[in-house]
Amino acid sequence: MRLHLSLNHLIQLLTSADRETARKMHTLSLSSTTTPKDTDVPIPLLGFGLWQLPGQACLAPARAALAAGYRHLDSAQLYRNETEVGSLLVETSASIPRSEIFVTTKQGVCGGSPDKTYQLALASIQRIAGEADGGYVDLFLIHTPRGGADARKELWGALERLYSEGKTRLIGVSNYGVEHLEEMRRGTGYAKKVWPPHVNQIEVSLTSHLPVSIQGEREKRDLIWLVADLREKKKKLHPWSQQREVVKYCKEHGIVVQAYSPLVSGEKEKLEHPLLREIAAKHAKTPAQVLIRYGLQKGWVVLPKSKTPERIVQNANVFDFALDEGDMVALDGLEEEV
Ligand code: A2P
Repeated sequence: MRLHLSLNHLIQLLTSADRETARKMHTLSLSSTTTPKDTDVPIPLLGFGLWQLPGQACLAPARAALAAGYRHLDSAQLYRNETEVGSLLVETSASIPRSEIFVTTKQGVCGGSPDKTYQLALASIQRIAGEADGGYVDLFLIHTPRGGADARKELWGALERLYSEGKTRLIGVSNYGVEHLEEMRRGTGYAKKVWPPHVNQIEVSLTSHLPVSIQGEREKRDLIWLVADLREKKKKLHPWSQQREVVKYCKEHGIVVQAYSPLVSGEKEKLEHPLLREIAAKHAKTPAQVLIRYGLQKGWVVLPKSKTPERIVQNANVFDFALDEGDMVALDGLEEEV
């Protein structure tokens, strides 16, 4: 007997959990984006982290990422690869228009005066976009709140200036806790041309590479703070560290959350956790793919980093399965183990 079932019949046969899974599979794709409040600038949900890939070392991985379909590169002054990102954008422009690649950079130190701080940030844009008029980055972040209230205000002032000049399409912060965001919201000493910040990228990971232009004592001091801050920080944004308070705050205020180091910086012990392996086996995926998918289903922009070609491809191959509610709850529970 031949069985004729319409799509509607099939849908009715699904349980509500299956329907939710099917919906998630269909709603997320490699080209999925999120658009920060009050803007028309979409951010690709999957980005490629360029930390620990200084200088030329970033080129092959970033090329592989673009070939695998990533359209979002996450750089910073501290990563020392802005110039190479710029050359890559030129190199690929014949096949991928600049407008289709989302590029982020970050600055964590002041320059000694509001104007010098602005000039340091402008230099980043020139490294990435060249010196001709009209060059831009897509997102510019304050790398860390560590420099203190005055530094935070001065850096934000520089970013607001770049934003109003069209040199960056979005501005945001990184590593900010609720107290830093509240300081901005209250606004004392802030021009507050932009509130809320478009993005909060949580957490940055330690890298030993220094920013390109460290000239004065103040920059050196800021840098020492920045590196100390990064060293102190063990927490990232992944199941073992969900940063619930600041994530909730960002959601309430319409701030896009970006998850840095979603693969627990490759920590073997975590990637081989029995629960993660079990969920990965159930979906015929790897633990790394489960962690990336977990972040995406949480609604975060996820920024895995790899220098390994197969892993770069693997980490983008997360749109043909969906974690169900039980998987998500089980992964949420991992934080309690810390
Ligand atoms: P490698 O660059 O040698 O491929 P995070 O994004 O959390 O900071 O993690 C980056 C670390 O995770 C790097 O050490 C990277 O190694 C490793 N990594 C990246 N992708 C995978 C993967 N699919 N499986 C296991 N480890 C990975």
